[in-house]
Amino acid sequence: MNYIGISSGFHDAALSVIDDNGNILFAGHSERYSKHKHDKHLSMGIVEDALSHCNSKDIEIHYYERPWMKFLRQIRSGEKPKLSSLLVKDTIGTGLLHKLQDGCGGKVHTHNHHLSHAAAGFQTSPYDDATVVVIDAIGEFDTISIWNAYYDKNGIATYKKLWTKKYPDSIGLFYSAMTERVGLRPLDEEYILMGMAAYGTSKSIDKMSTALIESYKDITFKDNLHTGVSTDFLEDVDEMSIATNTQLIAEQLIMNVISKAKMLSVSKNLVYGGGVALNCLANRLLGDYYENIWIMPNPGDAGSSLGAACLGYRKRVNWSDSFIGHCIEGSYPTNDILDRLLSDRIVGVASGRAEFGPRALGNRSLLADPRGQEIKDKVNEIKRRQKFRPFAPVILEEYVDDYFDMPRGFNNSRYMQVIARCRHPQLFPAIVHHDGTSRVQTVPKDGSGIRELLEKWYILTGCPMLLNTSLNIRGEPMVNDREDADRFEKLYNVKVIS
Ligand SMILES: [Fe+2]
Repeated sequence: MNYIGISSGFHDAALSVIDDNGNILFAGHSERYSKHKHDKHLSMGIVEDALSHCNSKDIEIHYYERPWMKFLRQIRSGEKPKLSSLLVKDTIGTGLLHKLQDGCGGKVHTHNHHLSHAAAGFQTSPYDDATVVVIDAIGEFDTISIWNAYYDKNGIATYKKLWTKKYPDSIGLFYSAMTERVGLRPLDEEYILMGMAAYGTSKSIDKMSTALIESYKDITFKDNLHTGVSTDFLEDVDEMSIATNTQLIAEQLIMNVISKAKMLSVSKNLVYGGGVALNCLANRLLGDYYENIWIMPNPGDAGSSLGAACLGYRKRVNWSDSFIGHCIEGSYPTNDILDRLLSDRIVGVASGRAEFGPRALGNRSLLADPRGQEIKDKVNEIKRRQKFRPFAPVILEEYVDDYFDMPRGFNNSRYMQVIARCRHPQLFPAIVHHDGTSRVQTVPKDGSGIRELLEKWYILTGCPMLLNTSLNIRGEPMVNDREDADRFEKLYNVKVIS
């Protein structure tokens, strides 16, 4: 049996496959095949790629949310949903579903949206039991949920819901509303607002709090922020300070949820999911409550395709890393990358299986020597993004404490889940943000290509880290296949090695 999990219809459609032994055969994002960023629809490209990784004709399909519940919420909130969104076959796409259903008898199992988030986190985690916290913009009705999760004597994952917050009170919708207020795209550019937070002041935080928050303790808001705030909201406050205040308010609300979870469940292990778990700045505070923390690399809705498949499989899956997407065949070109790094200081790599999640972790990356003053501008010339945004470091895990003060609860950050203070910002200005922190990726001794590269780079230079940013053409999703890599190389005149 193969369990196919699907998330689609809202944003970031994705598809995952697990086999009967708990092996993750494939997990990928539709956008990387269609080349439409945040594509909400599946496409034939991803369906065919996923099917090529299946090892059984016996297939069960699991969908990450309950369309009719979502429809009901949309009606109640005054939206005008299309009748077709009630039917999961229309949401997935009839033609694609037929292709997937060949052999599965047609049934599509649907699951609660927040439960799919919870399963994506818990069943990929190393824990036998956990407190699971899910915070996102909106599921069907839930916007925050706290669960107790454990495996029963037969190894079946069991979830008990302990607490929820319902629409329209939502930390995710609040953050997205503020993202839109400063002129960025909601449900896309929240990470830019997070980066802006380092530049503002918190002088006007009381004003913002008073205008928006009904109760920090109960996590309630004065208005429904689903439709955003007016364009003149806090018009006398600069955008950077709006970002600062948004981040600080969000952190306080998130930590109130975590503190509530700590009171409701006795487990020492925290599994944290939902799109808000991508806020790596807020995540630094989680260790004040939990010693053991697991945030899977794709905690947003795309990752819930894996969660839905996990709910079909029901047991712990064999998680090793996030390189489970499209495969560019061939061994990792370590020596060629090193040669380029030494001669040009910048090189692209597109090799092996693509990362499942929003971050490039070494297989679809633009890598650079992080040392010195001028490298940031050089990489920015290629990426053409806001100059205030730094790039991320990827470092041999055993050296992380020599270069970064990791926050409590995190002795590693294998999927860039958390920020850490850089101990030598003057030596590595390209990977340090305005507030002195970096979004660190640590690489263990896992036999991966990026591990071998870093080891050799360290022997040659004495530096155990590289600058790592995603390999993508501006406005497009991350490079997926060899053709994308070739287009990148031609467009930017930067060697991309496969
Ligand atoms: Fe979600």
